[in-house]
Amino acid sequence: MNMDQNQTRVDVAHLASFDVDGAIREAADRVNEANRRSFLAGAGIFAGAAAISAYLPRVARAQGSLPKGDVEILNYALTLEYLETAFYEEANEKGALSGQYARFSKVVAAHESAHVDALKETLGDKAGKKPSFDFQGTTESQATFGKTAMVLEDTGVKAYQGQAGNIKTEAVLKAAISIHPVEARHAAWIASIMGQGSGQPSPAPVSFNPAEDMATVLAAVKGTGFVPALGGAPAGGAVSGQPAVGG
Ligand SMILES: [Fe+2]
Ligand SMILES: [Fe+2]
Repeated sequence: MNMDQNQTRVDVAHLASFDVDGAIREAADRVNEANRRSFLAGAGIFAGAAAISAYLPRVARAQGSLPKGDVEILNYALTLEYLETAFYEEANEKGALSGQYARFSKVVAAHESAHVDALKETLGDKAGKKPSFDFQGTTESQATFGKTAMVLEDTGVKAYQGQAGNIKTEAVLKAAISIHPVEARHAAWIASIMGQGSGQPSPAPVSFNPAEDMATVLAAVKGTGFVPALGGAPAGGAVSGQPAVGG
């Protein structure tokens, strides 16, 4: 990661209230535009979801074929992204959410869908098919939606983190770590909504985030019963508001 560029990024949000004639904002925009161009020219930093989804397929084509292990990891990520996308899309369709929950679900559904698209394009004909899902009624109330979303997002964070050391292709690694913090933001956002400003559950609960390996994550996903093709119906039931994904 290019720390210098990150550090020179100008955050003008807090200046807006007293920047009456917009001079500070204009200057900051010029600095940020220069940084943006530098990001793109450097090819080491991605500038957003659109850039990633456009960049990953080019990476795959340029590589000829990705190493088998990277294909497996990308398909693993794709499965989790399919799961998240389907969960939020179902929640949006059911209409049980309102206020911050509804807004969160709509925004995050779009992110997850973009992740799916980028991974599918990268994998091309090696992309796994979308499984069918059964969310066990968790999308039908705000309370079970919130608890399940927290677990799914935490699991996504641990899953991407757990593969960082296993990815062989540098560009794939860079793309993966551009998705990873987005999942962490989703996790923090839903925790914040659930806590209603109380700080519990904490949006940032630990100093060092634990990773999880592929087998652990897949076993946990199986345990939810959300993916019937995997078997493993939940013992307590995700419907109870205690989804079993993650640790
Ligand atoms: Fe995602
Ligand atoms: Fe997410």
